[in-house]
Amino acid sequence: MNPIRIALTKGRLEKDTVALFERLGYDCTELHHKGRKLILRIPDANLEVVLAKAADVITYVEHGVCDMGVVGKDTIMEYGGSFFELTDLGFGKCKFAVAGKSAEDLYTGYRAKTIATKYPNVSRRFFEAKGMDVDIVKIEGSVELAPLIGLADAIVDIVETGTTLKENGLKVIEDVAAVSARVIVNSASIKLRKNEIETLLEKIENVGKDQ
Ligand code: PRP
Repeated sequence: MNPIRIALTKGRLEKDTVALFERLGYDCTELHHKGRKLILRIPDANLEVVLAKAADVITYVEHGVCDMGVVGKDTIMEYGGSFFELTDLGFGKCKFAVAGKSAEDLYTGYRAKTIATKYPNVSRRFFEAKGMDVDIVKIEGSVELAPLIGLADAIVDIVETGTTLKENGLKVIEDVAAVSARVIVNSASIKLRKNEIETLLEKIENVGKDQ
Protein backbone atom coordinates (compact mmCIF):
# COMPACT_ATOMS: atom_id res chain seq x y z
CA MET A 1 0.00 0.00 0.00
CA ASN A 2 1.30 3.49 -0.87
CA PRO A 3 2.12 5.54 2.20
CA ILE A 4 -0.25 8.31 3.29
CA ARG A 5 1.54 11.52 2.42
CA ILE A 6 1.22 14.34 4.93
CA ALA A 7 2.42 17.94 4.48
CA LEU A 8 3.69 19.61 7.64
CA THR A 9 4.14 23.33 8.08
CA LYS A 10 7.82 24.11 8.59
CA GLY A 11 8.94 26.20 11.53
CA ARG A 12 6.79 26.93 14.57
CA LEU A 13 4.32 24.05 14.09
CA GLU A 14 6.96 21.54 13.02
CA LYS A 15 8.35 20.75 16.47
CA ASP A 16 4.92 20.24 18.02
CA THR A 17 3.79 18.01 15.14
CA VAL A 18 6.88 15.81 15.40
CA ALA A 19 6.34 15.62 19.17
CA LEU A 20 2.75 14.52 18.50
CA PHE A 21 3.95 11.75 16.17
CA GLU A 22 6.37 10.62 18.85
CA ARG A 23 3.56 10.45 21.40
CA LEU A 24 1.79 8.18 18.92
CA GLY A 25 4.87 5.94 19.21
CA TYR A 26 6.14 6.61 15.68
CA ASP A 27 9.80 6.46 14.73
CA CYS A 28 10.64 10.07 13.76
CA THR A 29 14.38 9.53 13.16
CA GLU A 30 14.24 10.91 9.61
CA LEU A 31 12.33 13.97 10.81
CA HIS A 32 15.03 14.69 13.38
CA HIS A 33 17.90 14.18 10.95
CA LYS A 34 16.38 15.58 7.78
CA GLY A 35 19.35 17.60 6.48
CA ARG A 36 18.17 19.02 3.15
CA LYS A 37 15.96 16.04 2.36
CA LEU A 38 12.44 17.07 1.36
CA ILE A 39 10.47 13.83 1.58
CA LEU A 40 10.84 12.00 4.89
CA ARG A 41 9.48 8.67 5.99
CA ILE A 42 7.89 7.41 9.17
CA PRO A 43 8.26 3.75 8.26
CA ASP A 44 6.34 2.13 11.12
CA ALA A 45 3.24 4.22 10.37
CA ASN A 46 3.47 4.00 6.56
CA LEU A 47 3.55 7.80 6.48
CA GLU A 48 5.52 10.02 4.16
CA VAL A 49 6.15 13.57 5.38
CA VAL A 50 6.71 16.64 3.23
CA LEU A 51 7.86 19.84 4.99
CA ALA A 52 6.47 22.97 3.40
CA LYS A 53 5.63 26.62 3.92
CA ALA A 54 2.14 27.08 5.34
CA ALA A 55 0.42 28.25 2.14
CA ASP A 56 2.06 25.41 0.19
CA VAL A 57 0.62 22.84 2.63
CA ILE A 58 -2.83 23.96 1.47
CA THR A 59 -1.78 23.85 -2.21
CA TYR A 60 -0.41 20.30 -1.90
CA VAL A 61 -3.51 19.04 -0.10
CA GLU A 62 -5.90 20.78 -2.52
CA HIS A 63 -4.08 19.30 -5.51
CA GLY A 64 -4.12 15.85 -3.93
CA VAL A 65 -0.34 15.39 -4.01
CA CYS A 66 -0.56 15.16 -0.21
CA ASP A 67 -3.45 13.30 1.42
CA MET A 68 -3.30 15.34 4.61
CA GLY A 69 -1.72 18.49 6.01
CA VAL A 70 -0.99 20.21 9.31
CA VAL A 71 -1.42 23.96 9.00
CA GLY A 72 -2.43 26.94 11.12
CA LYS A 73 -5.99 28.23 11.12
CA ASP A 74 -4.46 31.61 10.17
CA THR A 75 -3.35 30.22 6.81
CA ILE A 76 -6.68 28.46 6.29
CA MET A 77 -8.55 31.71 6.97
CA GLU A 78 -6.33 33.66 4.61
CA TYR A 79 -6.12 31.26 1.66
CA GLY A 80 -9.24 29.08 2.01
CA GLY A 81 -9.50 26.31 -0.58
CA SER A 82 -11.39 23.08 -1.07
CA PHE A 83 -10.35 20.45 1.45
CA PHE A 84 -11.74 19.07 4.69
CA GLU A 85 -10.64 20.72 7.93
CA LEU A 86 -10.96 17.99 10.53
CA THR A 87 -9.00 18.12 13.77
CA ASP A 88 -7.96 21.02 15.97
CA LEU A 89 -4.58 19.84 17.26
CA GLY A 90 -4.64 22.26 20.20
CA PHE A 91 -1.09 23.51 19.69
CA GLY A 92 0.22 26.52 17.75
CA LYS A 93 -2.24 28.58 19.75
CA CYS A 94 -2.23 32.31 19.09
CA LYS A 95 -4.69 34.88 17.80
CA PHE A 96 -5.29 37.27 14.98
CA ALA A 97 -5.56 40.78 16.32
CA VAL A 98 -5.77 44.37 15.20
CA ALA A 99 -2.88 46.19 16.84
CA GLY A 100 -1.47 49.67 16.80
CA LYS A 101 -0.41 52.61 18.92
CA SER A 102 -3.94 53.37 20.13
CA ALA A 103 -7.57 52.63 19.33
CA GLU A 104 -8.13 56.38 18.81
CA ASP A 105 -5.57 56.44 15.97
CA LEU A 106 -7.62 53.81 14.19
CA TYR A 107 -11.19 54.66 15.03
CA THR A 108 -11.34 58.46 15.00
CA GLY A 109 -11.39 60.84 12.04
CA TYR A 110 -12.97 60.51 8.60
CA ARG A 111 -9.90 59.59 6.57
CA ALA A 112 -9.79 55.96 5.36
CA LYS A 113 -7.23 54.25 7.59
CA THR A 114 -4.33 52.14 6.32
CA ILE A 115 -3.83 48.61 7.62
CA ALA A 116 -0.57 46.72 7.09
CA THR A 117 -0.74 42.93 7.17
CA LYS A 118 0.52 39.61 5.88
CA TYR A 119 -3.15 38.59 5.78
CA PRO A 120 -5.05 40.92 3.39
CA ASN A 121 -8.09 38.63 3.01
CA VAL A 122 -8.59 38.19 6.75
CA SER A 123 -8.14 41.95 7.24
CA ARG A 124 -10.53 42.90 4.43
CA ARG A 125 -13.25 40.61 5.77
CA PHE A 126 -12.82 41.88 9.32
CA PHE A 127 -13.11 45.58 8.44
CA GLU A 128 -15.88 44.95 5.89
CA ALA A 129 -17.92 43.25 8.61
CA LYS A 130 -17.48 46.39 10.73
CA GLY A 131 -18.55 48.55 7.79
CA MET A 132 -15.20 50.34 7.94
CA ASP A 133 -13.46 51.44 4.76
CA VAL A 134 -9.69 50.75 4.98
CA ASP A 135 -6.74 50.62 2.62
CA ILE A 136 -4.79 47.41 3.00
CA VAL A 137 -1.04 47.18 2.38
CA LYS A 138 0.47 43.70 2.11
CA ILE A 139 3.72 43.24 4.05
CA GLU A 140 5.76 40.02 4.09
CA GLY A 141 7.25 40.16 7.58
CA SER A 142 7.87 42.26 10.70
CA VAL A 143 4.48 43.88 10.16
CA GLU A 144 4.85 45.70 13.51
CA LEU A 145 7.27 48.06 11.79
CA ALA A 146 4.52 49.58 9.61
CA PRO A 147 2.82 51.82 12.24
CA LEU A 148 6.22 52.78 13.69
CA ILE A 149 7.56 54.20 10.44
CA GLY A 150 4.30 55.78 9.32
CA LEU A 151 3.18 53.27 6.70
CA ALA A 152 -0.02 52.24 8.49
CA ASP A 153 -2.44 53.34 11.19
CA ALA A 154 -2.68 49.78 12.50
CA ILE A 155 -1.84 46.18 11.63
CA VAL A 156 -3.66 42.87 11.53
CA ASP A 157 -1.24 40.18 12.63
CA ILE A 158 -0.65 37.07 14.70
CA VAL A 159 -0.10 37.70 18.40
CA GLU A 160 1.35 34.82 20.38
CA THR A 161 3.09 36.03 23.54
CA GLY A 162 2.52 39.74 22.83
CA THR A 163 6.27 40.38 23.19
CA THR A 164 6.78 41.84 19.71
CA LEU A 165 3.95 44.34 20.23
CA LYS A 166 5.16 45.28 23.71
CA GLU A 167 8.78 45.77 22.69
CA ASN A 168 7.65 48.12 19.95
CA GLY A 169 5.21 50.22 21.96
CA LEU A 170 2.13 48.73 20.29
CA LYS A 171 -0.93 47.08 21.78
CA VAL A 172 -3.87 44.91 20.82
CA ILE A 173 -6.79 47.09 19.82
CA GLU A 174 -9.22 44.30 19.00
CA ASP A 175 -9.16 40.50 18.75
CA VAL A 176 -10.05 39.09 15.32
CA ALA A 177 -9.99 35.29 15.72
CA ALA A 178 -8.38 32.46 17.66
CA VAL A 179 -5.76 30.42 15.80
CA SER A 180 -4.35 26.91 16.32
CA ALA A 181 -2.95 24.06 14.23
CA ARG A 182 -5.46 22.04 12.22
CA VAL A 183 -5.42 18.79 10.25
CA ILE A 184 -6.70 19.21 6.70
CA VAL A 185 -7.49 16.33 4.34
CA ASN A 186 -7.79 16.13 0.56
CA SER A 187 -11.39 15.61 -0.53
CA ALA A 188 -10.64 12.49 -2.63
CA SER A 189 -8.27 10.95 -0.06
CA ILE A 190 -10.94 11.21 2.61
CA LYS A 191 -13.02 8.74 0.59
CA LEU A 192 -10.30 6.60 -1.01
CA ARG A 193 -8.15 6.19 2.13
CA LYS A 194 -10.96 6.57 4.63
CA ASN A 195 -9.91 3.81 7.04
CA GLU A 196 -6.25 4.79 7.28
CA ILE A 197 -7.05 8.48 7.68
CA GLU A 198 -9.76 7.85 10.26
CA THR A 199 -7.49 5.54 12.23
CA LEU A 200 -4.71 8.14 12.30
CA LEU A 201 -7.10 10.92 13.33
CA GLU A 202 -8.60 8.77 16.09
CA LYS A 203 -5.11 8.06 17.42
CA ILE A 204 -4.30 11.78 17.34
CA GLU A 205 -7.52 12.65 19.16
CA ASN A 206 -6.96 9.94 21.79
CA VAL A 207 -3.38 10.93 22.49
CA GLY A 208 -4.57 14.55 22.77
CA LYS A 209 -7.09 13.54 25.46
CA ASP A 210 -4.33 11.86 27.48
CA GLN A 211 -2.41 15.16 27.78
C1 PRP B 1 4.90 36.43 14.05
C2 PRP B 1 3.92 37.58 13.97
C3 PRP B 1 4.47 38.55 14.97
C4 PRP B 1 5.08 37.65 16.03
C5 PRP B 1 4.15 37.55 17.21
O1 PRP B 1 5.98 36.73 13.26
O2 PRP B 1 3.86 38.10 12.66
O3 PRP B 1 5.46 39.37 14.40
O4 PRP B 1 5.23 36.36 15.44
O5 PRP B 1 4.68 36.76 18.24
P1 PRP B 1 4.73 37.28 19.75
O6 PRP B 1 3.35 37.80 20.09
O7 PRP B 1 5.07 36.04 20.53
O8 PRP B 1 5.77 38.34 19.86
P2 PRP B 1 7.11 35.67 12.90
O9 PRP B 1 8.08 35.55 14.02
O10 PRP B 1 6.45 34.40 12.50
O11 PRP B 1 7.87 36.29 11.68
P3 PRP B 1 7.75 37.64 10.82
O12 PRP B 1 7.82 38.79 11.77
O13 PRP B 1 8.88 37.59 9.88
O14 PRP B 1 6.42 37.58 10.14
